[in-house]
Amino acid sequence: MAVSLFSAAQSLFRARRVCSLGLSIIASGCIVPFVSVAWAASAGDSRATIDRGAYIARAADCVACHTKPGGVAFAGGYGIQSPMGVIYSNNITPSMTHGIGGWSEAAFARAVREGVSPNGTRLYPAMPYDSYAGMTDEDIHALYVYLQGAIAPVDTPVGPVTRLRFPYNMRNLMRVWNWLYLDRTRFAPRPGETVAQARGRYLVESVAHCGTCHTPRNFMMAAKAGHKLEGAQVGGWYAPDIAAGTHGPLGSWRDDEIEAYLRDGHARDRGVAAGPMGEAVEHSLRYLTESDLQAITAYLRQQNRSDSSGRPVRPTTDPARAYQLDSPDDRLIRHAARAERNATPGLYADRRNYRDIDGGAALYMAACASCHQIDGRGTRDDFYPSLRQSSAVQASRPNNLIMTILAGVHRDGADGAARMPAFRHDLTDQQIAVLVHFVTDRFGSTPLTPSATDVATLRRFDTADLPAEARP
Ligand code: HEC
Ligand code: HEC
Ligand code: HEC
Repeated sequence: MAVSLFSAAQSLFRARRVCSLGLSIIASGCIVPFVSVAWAASAGDSRATIDRGAYIARAADCVACHTKPGGVAFAGGYGIQSPMGVIYSNNITPSMTHGIGGWSEAAFARAVREGVSPNGTRLYPAMPYDSYAGMTDEDIHALYVYLQGAIAPVDTPVGPVTRLRFPYNMRNLMRVWNWLYLDRTRFAPRPGETVAQARGRYLVESVAHCGTCHTPRNFMMAAKAGHKLEGAQVGGWYAPDIAAGTHGPLGSWRDDEIEAYLRDGHARDRGVAAGPMGEAVEHSLRYLTESDLQAITAYLRQQNRSDSSGRPVRPTTDPARAYQLDSPDDRLIRHAARAERNATPGLYADRRNYRDIDGGAALYMAACASCHQIDGRGTRDDFYPSLRQSSAVQASRPNNLIMTILAGVHRDGADGAARMPAFRHDLTDQQIAVLVHFVTDRFGSTPLTPSATDVATLRRFDTADLPAEARP
């Protein structure tokens, strides 16, 4: 799913204004007293059920995919990039004409857990029904009550219709897909599992569908068996291996760091949630209770596999080394930037004018050092994070670093907002390639040398979701 920060931020902003975003509906008293025909049968449902449904809708992130940029929450029309083409989400407001207003609870459950609409239409797994298949009857009921009873119906058609090319336009092929790949097992605690691990497994595998992004897919878009949560490409981004165990890349993170990352979108000297992960934090994970975050972490820890020895362990930097001023690196970068500037007089006349800069150090000085500091260690309060321990810089693939430079960071976490400017209009592909080499060489553990063409490829993912007027 190539999701754009820009469009998601926009949709969130506008959706807030119309007062129809998940919990905020309840919090701000904007509940619409709408009861559909189908829902009237279950009128005995209490406020507690609606609240539970709202929580599950958050945890399952229904709103993010079912709201188009600038559109009304749950009214659909959001385009999801897939290797087969763009798949648009549907209107799931209780509209009798365009939404799920006339649907029975059983029909709703079948769509969400098996990917089959009441008229028999087969859904593509861009709707993560293969994850939701494990959802319990209680949670499906609560979701149904919430969507039917607390969301305003939107009676107009939304956005574009999905048109995939042959043979993907044959939705009946999804019958075969379901037969091959759909695991219909409902969640149930397993013997030997703690309560927290079981809850975490339910959240990770079914509700919060972490595997939609973190589990590699085969050519049919189905999760690769035996590689659960081991890392996968999502649009231009790379969702890292999070099958933590004690040896995996997350093995060196403390539990409270994983929880902070999920809740706030950043964990000091570990990493920052940008791109699709930033959206997952902003729309969904920051609303989870502490005990649910602990449960997710407990479950990730449990993924201790015997084959973990060959997987890369991210180096940890000695914290005592951080924040030495005037370090040798400092002096080198200053020196290199000065040499580049002397060779190109007038370089810094306008700091925002990067056009003529082509050396890595000078580019870093001009575009990045004001926040991440000359030595890449960020500010002491971590408001501008250190690049030295950052997972995007330490990674063996340049994807997340390139995407972060192109798209910036635009995320609201539980502890506030994080904003890094997007450089998509300011830096060329060649400049970004040079900068990535400089940053990974100086601050990372493996110097990376992407080409300008590599950057151009990722740039297409970055802009695919932007409104036409905002494209470069
Ligand atoms: C990752 C994105 C994504 C998430 C998250 C998501 N959906 Fe969907 N959903 C889609 C897409 C895309 C479609 C359309 C699929 C197609 O056309 O085959 C869809 C279709 C549906 C449909 C079928 C509607 C119809 O008219 O046939 C229902 C119902 C639905 N989603 C409910 C939900 C609920 C409830 C949640 C949260 C529990 C949810 N979705 C979360 C992407 C998503
Ligand atoms: C929409 C796709 C998506 C979903 C859903 C998603 N992630 Fe992520 N995740 C990513 C991407 C992309 C990154 C890399 C972000 C970056 O570096 O800025 C990431 C990064 C992470 C990291 C940091 C790993 C590291 O080594 O830096 C953790 C931990 C994580 N995700 C956990 C989860 C958990 C747990 C869930 C489910 C509750 C989840 N993610 C759901 C896409 C996703
Ligand atoms: C105006 C200040 C500012 C500038 C300029 C800036 N950044 Fe950032 N950067 C931030 C903020 C804020 C964050 C996110 C902090 C958070 O999420 O808590 C961030 C995050 C990052 C991350 C994510 C780290 C991770 O662990 O995933 C990387 C990488 C990064 N910046 C690289 C750069 C590079 C390279 C440049 C120069 C092209 C740059 N930044 C310019 C403020 C800035």
